[in-house]
Amino acid sequence: MDVDLTILVGTMTGTAQLVAQELELTLDDEHTRVQTKLMDALDAGVFDGGGLFLVCTSTYGQGDVPDNAKALYESLQTARPDLSGVRYGIVALGDRTYAETFCNGGKRFDAILAELGAKRIGEPMLHDASAGTLPEEVAAEWAGPWIARCRETSMLAA
Ligand SMILES: Cc1cc2nc3c(=O)[nH]c(=O)nc-3n(C[C@H](O)[C@H](O)[C@H](O)COP(=O)(O)O)c2cc1C
Repeated sequence: MDVDLTILVGTMTGTAQLVAQELELTLDDEHTRVQTKLMDALDAGVFDGGGLFLVCTSTYGQGDVPDNAKALYESLQTARPDLSGVRYGIVALGDRTYAETFCNGGKRFDAILAELGAKRIGEPMLHDASAGTLPEEVAAEWAGPWIARCRETSMLAA
């Protein structure tokens, strides 16, 4: 079964964008069409029509979403669309040095999407910048089983 995937990127210094590029390279094949969008200037309308999404975002400030993700996050909070047609995964970048707010940017998107009725596939991937691993490598390994699971669940639903 063919799958269309949209990767939404929240980033301050480009790491999440690099991770998204690697995810696109890993996942885009004859059965999976991948489109990557920076969150800049997006609002809740990006989820219109439902579909499969991967939210790939870092964390800044006091556990906030990055600046380029703020408009989208706030639009979800205010417009509160019904996202029951949306399935999603989370790739959250953070740093355990910020113990209290580790990967909160991704966790915030996870919480609001679930609250609006979207269905998460798999566990969120949480990357710790202080762990010495490369986020793009960890994400590429995580992504294969994740997309397989997405395919399985869409076959069950079909
Ligand atoms: C000023 C600043 C604040 C940060 N705050 C947090 C935080 O609260 N929680 C967290 O898990 N990571 C935090 N981080 C770590 C970043 O999210 C992490 O380095 C990430 O890989 C950066 O990705 P980006 O280049 O896509 O923005 C912070 C980094 C900086 C520079």
